[in-house]
Amino acid sequence: MKREKQRVDNKELEKQLGIINELKECLQGKDLHYYIETFGCQMNEKDSEKLAGVLKKIGYTETQNIKQADFILYNTCCIRENAERKIYGRVGNLRRLKEKKPDLIVAVCGCMMQQEHVLERLRGKYRKEVDIIFGTYNIYKLAELIRTRMEVGHQIIDIWKEHKEIVEDLPSERKYKYKAAVNIMYGCNNFCTYCIVPYVRGRERSRESESIIKEIKNLVADGVKEIMLLGQNVNSYGKGLEDGITFAKLLREINEIEGLELIRYMTSHPKDFNDELIYAIRDCDKVCNYVHLPIQAGSNKVLSAMNRKYTKEQYLSLAEKIKREIKDVSITTDIIVGFPGETDEDFEDTLDVVRKVRYDGAFTFIYSKRTGTKAASMEGQVSEEKVTERFNKLLEETEKIQEEDNAKRKDMVYKVLVENISKNDERLLTGRTEQNILVHFEGDASLIGELVEVKIVETKRNYLVGEFKRRIKLWSQRKL
Ligand code: 5AD
Ligand code: SF4
Repeated sequence: MKREKQRVDNKELEKQLGIINELKECLQGKDLHYYIETFGCQMNEKDSEKLAGVLKKIGYTETQNIKQADFILYNTCCIRENAERKIYGRVGNLRRLKEKKPDLIVAVCGCMMQQEHVLERLRGKYRKEVDIIFGTYNIYKLAELIRTRMEVGHQIIDIWKEHKEIVEDLPSERKYKYKAAVNIMYGCNNFCTYCIVPYVRGRERSRESESIIKEIKNLVADGVKEIMLLGQNVNSYGKGLEDGITFAKLLREINEIEGLELIRYMTSHPKDFNDELIYAIRDCDKVCNYVHLPIQAGSNKVLSAMNRKYTKEQYLSLAEKIKREIKDVSITTDIIVGFPGETDEDFEDTLDVVRKVRYDGAFTFIYSKRTGTKAASMEGQVSEEKVTERFNKLLEETEKIQEEDNAKRKDMVYKVLVENISKNDERLLTGRTEQNILVHFEGDASLIGELVEVKIVETKRNYLVGEFKRRIKLWSQRKL
């Protein structure tokens, strides 16, 4: 299948920067606000940071109050049906606001827009509510789309059917000071039969490693200590590039960046999680001992129907090897319940994997039929009653294991990058361990952005309570 290098268009960058400046001059002196709501995965969160960067540069200020906004943007997700339903609800609710504020601009973008049936609805029923519609391949054109909308005065739609060159180095508005996400590749070639992503995000293409390294170095110079490398399937990174680079090699290169302390990544596919990668995670002191390894289902029959390209046995031996090689590693997963044709026996296989791997966290989903995917036309859709019963059973099992295993962390000392003051209790700070487990502890706000050691004094199912021990200078300074 086609794998490419993600090409970069510098001429287009100049053009967009020019339009940003033009709009900035034109809107000068007006007190304008933007409101963005992002649905879905970290890829969308990252896109929203880029979109916010452009809006800010034009002169808009962020607001959390939608009624104050002059520009509203919904960055959409279509991985499951309920995410889609929410968007129609949101857009429908804007009718009154639009009537009151005729200059308000409403834009929708992202994965959902890459589907014809969605466009039809937005072009028809929601013609008056939505001013700008664009997809996943041309988010860098936001400024140009705003200018066009201002010129023509009616709904504009700009959807590309496939990716072209992208524009890098446009302004981006980071949500956190100390951590940032970096795209290393786009798209997916796996075509798991339930999944809409390959249809809305296109074929796999990797960014040049030099551009990635340059971006990370700039972020580090700006105070970032933790980075999250983003791709639908990071293990395929480098295929299509000329220089023989792999994801494991990229990790080793990034590990050398001075000033960077922590490296995370999202998401990996079990089918090509090879030894080279396991050893890179093991050897690189900044790469977190944390692996998200989506199993999706435990039965070989279902895995094959899902086109996952591994068996239950292969997955279990991979998980075992990861645990053996990487010290104190945590493993999390994604599981779908109710895939077409799933029997009680198949579901027992899923529970069996859960009990054997003992996940530190599991994202569990009810199968959602996505138009255009292979699974949508498969026989044997499972009844709602059965699905609910299995889903509840799965949740009970995964939560029980998580609670039991977290309890074993009492009295352990963890390194934590302090992220914030706790939302629920002002006296507490929060951060994450290398294993991606949330920790709350009492401490001074001056510790935010610092690396610290925390001793665990209390454990809950999905977080830990700790006691501040001391600041540490470098993540790699002391092996715990
Ligand atoms: N129905 C339910 N869950 C899905 N996922 C992807 N597509 C679907 C679907 N059609 C889940 C998978 C994937 C996660 C991001 O979303 O578990 O790993
Ligand atoms: Fe979807 Fe499978 Fe690609 Fe993940 S690997 S984005 S589940 S098709």
